[in-house]
Amino acid sequence: MKPQEEYWNRVADEKEFPTSFQINEFVNFVTKDMKILDVGCGYGRTLDELYNQGFRNLTGIDYAQNMINRGLRLYPHLNLKKNSGDDLPFASKEFDAVILIGVLTSNVEDKTQEKLISEIRRLLKDKGILYLADFLINTDERNKHRYSKYKNKYGIYGVFELPEGAVLRHHTPEHIFKLTKDFYELSYQETVYNTMNGHQSNGFYYMGKRK
Ligand SMILES: C[S@@+](CC[C@H](N)C(=O)[O-])C[C@H]1O[C@@H](n2cnc3c(N)ncnc32)[C@H](O)[C@@H]1O
Repeated sequence: MKPQEEYWNRVADEKEFPTSFQINEFVNFVTKDMKILDVGCGYGRTLDELYNQGFRNLTGIDYAQNMINRGLRLYPHLNLKKNSGDDLPFASKEFDAVILIGVLTSNVEDKTQEKLISEIRRLLKDKGILYLADFLINTDERNKHRYSKYKNKYGIYGVFELPEGAVLRHHTPEHIFKLTKDFYELSYQETVYNTMNGHQSNGFYYMGKRK
């Protein structure tokens, strides 16, 4: 098991993910009949929010089996499955919309992120919708200190380790636009999110349409 996968399995029953999902923006582009995939769905809270709004064609995948187990306990009506983390086990153009919230942050290398976004693009129908939300670089002393501390080890300003064992990344907006270059931008909003460790961080949500 990869170290990051081991980390998410270990914390699956204790973490709450507070990154807000902009459902009002989402429903501007995605309708209830559409087929939706949540990649790195955690314990399924976003899909349950959609379920409560009447969406039914919902699938979630996560490489941490313990996240899936928690999700199925909390929301037995959801279709949640474990994946390997290396690929997305679906046919090309199978989904109308894909959600990716707080997942880039724990896949810190450019190459890994590019592969993930390209796999998501493969699964989307023509003009399919991507909802992406994640963290941006912060400028407070605590963050600046840890970005500088780990800059040489990981070769990227914005990557840092948590004492509890995770390696995470905060991004520049330019990096996010480069990653999503094969999508037409529908909306992009910068915001501040609460984090799973009780702090606040700059963040964004982005909606794009597959080119
Ligand atoms: C910060 S949590 C967010 C969970 C969920 N998206 C939410 O917002 O509630 C990140 C999740 O992504 C999962 N994850 C990270 N990288 C993944 C990958 N490459 N494939 C599948 N799951 C992944 C982790 O196991 C974890 O459950």
